[in-house]
Amino acid sequence: MSSIDTHPTQTVASLRSRIIGIDQKVPLLDGSEQVYIYLDNAASTPSLRSAKEKVNELLQYYSSIHRGAGYKSLISTQAYERARELIIKFVGADSEKDVAIFGKNTTEATNILADSIDWKDGDVVLITLMEHHSNDLPWRKHATVEHFPVQPDGFFDLNAFEDILKSFKGRVRLVATTGASNVTGIIPPFYEIAKLAHQYNAMILVDCAQLAPHRPIDMRPHDSLDHLDFICLSAHKMYAPFGTGVLVGSKMFFDAAQPVFRGGGVIEIVTLDEVYWAKAPDKYEAGSPNVLGAVALGASIRELMAVGMQAIADHEKELTHYALTRLNQIAGVRLYGSRDPNRLGDRVGVIPFAIEGIQHGKVAAILSFEGGIGVRNGCFCAHPYLISLLNISQQEFAHFKQQVLQGDRRQQPGMVRASFGCYTNQEEIDHLITWIERIISGDYRGDYVQDKSSGSFFPRQFDPATLEKFFTL
Ligand SMILES: Cc1ncc(COP(=O)(O)O)c(C=O)c1O
Repeated sequence: MSSIDTHPTQTVASLRSRIIGIDQKVPLLDGSEQVYIYLDNAASTPSLRSAKEKVNELLQYYSSIHRGAGYKSLISTQAYERARELIIKFVGADSEKDVAIFGKNTTEATNILADSIDWKDGDVVLITLMEHHSNDLPWRKHATVEHFPVQPDGFFDLNAFEDILKSFKGRVRLVATTGASNVTGIIPPFYEIAKLAHQYNAMILVDCAQLAPHRPIDMRPHDSLDHLDFICLSAHKMYAPFGTGVLVGSKMFFDAAQPVFRGGGVIEIVTLDEVYWAKAPDKYEAGSPNVLGAVALGASIRELMAVGMQAIADHEKELTHYALTRLNQIAGVRLYGSRDPNRLGDRVGVIPFAIEGIQHGKVAAILSFEGGIGVRNGCFCAHPYLISLLNISQQEFAHFKQQVLQGDRRQQPGMVRASFGCYTNQEEIDHLITWIERIISGDYRGDYVQDKSSGSFFPRQFDPATLEKFFTL
């Protein structure tokens, strides 16, 4: 368990009232308004009040950091570094041996790691088939990427995984696995994977973008076989959407590597023909950093700590069990991934589904415009995984590919995804279920038209100008 969870002082239930926008109403097609139900937390979460409050508080003293001598600069620098310390604690990293590098998001973190490794010809990166494109495409730039298959129910065959490691005879440089899938919520056995990776002299990255908001994280000691060498996460999925992400890993590794972005702040000294790089994290945070984003993340971590990640995990497990039980009872709903409510130890509250006979985009649009529910549909930036879960043949895929490349996404395969946050409650799930049942029985009123290039559906009379009633800039 991460050290941060040791003294919870608040309840999970208290978090709901701390979510900004929780009571926000949105217009429905019938002219009424309804409190918005947000079930797209896997994409991005709303902000906790504490994140906004701390940002506001620091704005009073905001100043450039590190190189300023002014008092405000000292305050801002201390706040930024305090956020770094909180992250180290939150993920159970070693404050002596590890470093937390701030960047934009998880995507930037995986790219930074990919650009920091001293790749050699023939290097292999072994990833799972479940990966988000952010934990796949950066490796393709430098190495051969091997996708390890995962069973639809999430079963992870560790023997087969070891066979692959063995078969590459020491060429696997990095094992990169998600901490939790953004499509099915499945949590692979990443500590077991770490042990195997280390036995075969590979490093391991766990992409915690989807895990961090839902479970305690513990990188475990450097000298244990199941130590996680690198983890990364995004603040906008952790109730602090202010543009920050983090990569955590060994100081020794980053001190030895070359900086990825070059400019101010990354050096000890520069002459006309010599550059002496600073140590990590400075070497990896070129330019003026996002101080407010880091502070927002630190504040949300503090609040999550005060509740305890284990309590959050328990609450979400209950919700996921409830939602899966209800969804399993509806004829016409197809669930993907592990659909057994009694096997929840290994998944977070992300539920992909389809309604037979209705396109995923249309389901999502009805839920939005008539149910006031925000979900996501499509392929969730995980095309290879979707192709496998949807059992799409190569021939079918070639056909869709052709259409997409010609700017037509109307037939693009996909699913609908409902994903929960720490503040989600059972009534919201009931509302989703009611609307799924209504859609199946044809009890909706809109006439939906599909946009060719995006594949999205909108009610025929939808006027985007109405959005300006809520926010203008
Ligand atoms: C598992 C996983 N990895 C990586 C990412 C990329 O995160 P970001 O868009 O914050 O870079 C996401 C985003 O959905 C994700 O779910």
